[in-house]
Amino acid sequence: MRLSTFISAVAAVGSAVAQLTSNLTLVTDDFGENPTNATFQIYVPTTLTRHPAVLVGAHWCTGTGNDFFMYTNYAKYADVFGYIVIFPTAPRDTGCWDVSSNETLSHNGGSDSLAIVNMVKWTLKKYNGDPRRVFITGLSSGGMLTQVMMGAYPDVFTGGSAWSDVPYGCFRGPDAWNNDCALGLIVKTPQQWGNDVRNAYPGYRGPRPKLQVWHGTADTGLYYQNLIESNKMWSNVFGIHFTKNHTDTPIANYTQMIFGDGSQYVAYSCYDVPHNIPIRELDALAWFGIYDPKKPLPGTTTTTTTTTTTTTTKATTAVATPEAVPFGQCGGITYKGPLTCTKGFKCIKLNAYFSQCLPSL
Ligand SMILES: *[C@@H]1O[C@H](CO)[C@@H](O)[C@H](O)[C@H]1NC(C)=O
Ligand SMILES: *[C@@H]1O[C@H](CO)[C@@H](O)[C@H](O)[C@H]1NC(C)=O
Ligand SMILES: *[C@@H]1O[C@H](CO)[C@@H](O)[C@H](O)[C@H]1NC(C)=O
Ligand SMILES: *[C@@H]1O[C@H](CO)[C@@H](O)[C@H](O)[C@H]1NC(C)=O
Ligand SMILES: *[C@@H]1O[C@H](CO)[C@@H](O)[C@H](O)[C@H]1NC(C)=O
Repeated sequence: MRLSTFISAVAAVGSAVAQLTSNLTLVTDDFGENPTNATFQIYVPTTLTRHPAVLVGAHWCTGTGNDFFMYTNYAKYADVFGYIVIFPTAPRDTGCWDVSSNETLSHNGGSDSLAIVNMVKWTLKKYNGDPRRVFITGLSSGGMLTQVMMGAYPDVFTGGSAWSDVPYGCFRGPDAWNNDCALGLIVKTPQQWGNDVRNAYPGYRGPRPKLQVWHGTADTGLYYQNLIESNKMWSNVFGIHFTKNHTDTPIANYTQMIFGDGSQYVAYSCYDVPHNIPIRELDALAWFGIYDPKKPLPGTTTTTTTTTTTTTTKATTAVATPEAVPFGQCGGITYKGPLTCTKGFKCIKLNAYFSQCLPSL
């Protein structure tokens, strides 16, 4: 039952893609300094708002920009709200973003983060975009990249939405994969984490992008402790404290943790949800101020509701299935779950500790 509901969720996204007003396009122009040769595709809806917001959608390890386009509804909502989506692709065989080098972690230091910034600047210029509405979201490696951009380029980004990820700089080190961080073993004080962020762009005094993070308590890819560490980091950076919890928000078993007045940093603790957390596009778009939940969504509500409900079912029942779920873990030294993936997905070894089910398209 879980399997068939997931497939119907993917089908819903698939048919949404078929109805889009525009096409995903590979950008071949020179968009500026690009030390790692990252590439990107862009989704520009037929009807743009006057100064459109720009959203970067960052994929998971072994994913591509096209995967993030296919398996999320961000392009569909671009048609509804008139923003532009950049779907970048990580420029290396692992398909992971560089979230560990000093270059990527430093303002104007180079590597993938600088490439992303130049993609954004190119897009803002070409489409007369609104530099005060530049956002990034991502899952797993893309969620980690989201926090990297929050830390290294607070002058470029207005907001972030990070899913199943780790704090800015937690992966720092000589290797692309930082296992201590993934396992939730890098524990620091709020002041230490805050200093890490401040050192990403020394002397920066301007506003910082607002950030929401979403993390499952059953995540065995990037452990849940990383949510606690993110909370320490960003409450220190913003100079705010934990205020209150809203339980069962926005859905059952998710707790929304409010920090300060809830306008700068919010965390979602998602009870019993594994690494492959279902993406909730409208909650991210509401956080960015692109979608106003108090107003009716123009068209398409049926598909959205279906997708959200079915993917939630998938996540909460994942443990009982003999096959690993799409984007779920399917191998690793400390891992005890299923080793094969559902049809259409392939188990890809990312490192000794983590293999993931990814689309075999
Ligand atoms: C998308 O691309 C196809 C094939 O190149 C083309 O026929 C179609 O008109 C394009 N659609 C839009 C909305 O640009
Ligand atoms: C990027 O591409 C250029 C031109 O093809 C090449 O010279 C350079 O070595 C590439 N850089 C990396 C990091 O792959
Ligand atoms: C990266 O920066 C840290 C300090 O921030 C330093 O200890 C380390 O040696 C640097 N690594 C490289 C490869 O330069
Ligand atoms: C808020 O919710 C989190 C996640 O469920 C929990 O760990 C924490 O103890 C809660 N805090 C309070 C004060 O209830
Ligand atoms: C919430 O968690 C409880 C305890 O694991 C579970 O029985 C219940 O089905 C979950 N509810 C939803 C809506 O996922």
